[in-house]
Amino acid sequence: MIARTRSSARPGAGPAAPPTSIIEARGLVKRYGGHVAVAGLDLAVSDCEIFGILGPNGAGKTTTLEMIEGLRQPDAGEVRVAGLDPVADGDAVRRLIGVQLQATALFDYLTVAELVELFAGLYDADASAARVAALIGLVGLAEKAGARVAQLSGGQRQRVAVAVALVNDPRIVFLDEPTTGLDPAARRALWATIRSIRDGGATVVLTTHYMEEAETLCDRVAVLDRGQLIACDTPAALVRALGADATIRARAAGGLDVTALAAVPGVVGVDAEAEGGRSEEIRLRSADAQATLLGLLALAEAEGATLTGLSSTQANLEDVFLALTGRSYEPGDEPPAATANGRRGRGRGRVG
Ligand SMILES: Nc1ncnc2c1ncn2[C@@H]1O[C@H](COP(=O)(O)OP(=O)(O)OP(=O)(O)O)[C@@H](O)[C@H]1O
Ligand SMILES: [Mg+2]
Repeated sequence: MIARTRSSARPGAGPAAPPTSIIEARGLVKRYGGHVAVAGLDLAVSDCEIFGILGPNGAGKTTTLEMIEGLRQPDAGEVRVAGLDPVADGDAVRRLIGVQLQATALFDYLTVAELVELFAGLYDADASAARVAALIGLVGLAEKAGARVAQLSGGQRQRVAVAVALVNDPRIVFLDEPTTGLDPAARRALWATIRSIRDGGATVVLTTHYMEEAETLCDRVAVLDRGQLIACDTPAALVRALGADATIRARAAGGLDVTALAAVPGVVGVDAEAEGGRSEEIRLRSADAQATLLGLLALAEAEGATLTGLSSTQANLEDVFLALTGRSYEPGDEPPAATANGRRGRGRGRVG
């Protein structure tokens, strides 16, 4: 099976040593023509963690991964993977890593088992039937082992790509949007697989657009926006740094005064699309949801505004992104569905 023990993996006893970085990037820059895709990025990934990179389309996630994997040469900056330079020491780094690319071209005419066996052979790794079956089982495709790749659904192909990334029992696994396009059950199953990879002593670096995935799966999350790192910490610490327990949303016909919203009890931040100082779309970060709800209702009554779609939810990474950038997170692979209050956020202003 994939699980194995490394001397570096999760020492069980004694005070925890400071985590060692298995990946370090300093001042990474990548330009495409005049466009700066990655703009001076510093990252440190600890050994045996699940490290998530979150950011909207075009934020630079794939470009960053490709520079770490040695598939793209940075224009500036430095990368070390287990102390090695992924470009200069390419062969050594390739032996240590497993890569699932965002778009993988698989060999359609092979069966799943043949494909995994082929890649295991290419890596000079264990290509025995037992090992191939174990890898296929790990990604939940046991009953498709004999099916041709061409006959698989999009989500199943995605899972084959993950199995292929694991053939060489990598010390570091890079997964570029591994769960995009998977149904919720398959997504959860892949989370379990990713955890078992980590628990087996490997480091996992993945990109995602799913806030819930970043929050529940990742030990730490880097938030990228426009090629820059805007935050990096545990999901809990990122949310805690907001200083808000809850997010309260509502739509107010006629609008509410943004300054008055900021003065509602418990409010620590107002994200609002304001016109003439009034906002119809209301999103309040609150340190005291009950006080804020009561205060908001009172304000609406005093201003003669009707509130609809009133909701209070626990603050999450989406709120972190909004608070840091002033923009709503627009997931790339989801349709532009209405937000909780019925409209897409555009060009929001912020108070607090
Ligand atoms: N080969 C390329 N040539 C020119 N521009 C590129 C190339 N690859 C990426 N870019 C640009 O660089 C920026 C970052 O792209 P990248 O693929 O790293 O983003 P991403 O965060 O992975 O986005 P997504 O969530 O859509 O996968 C984008 O503006 C993109 O258009
Ligand atoms: Mg990408």
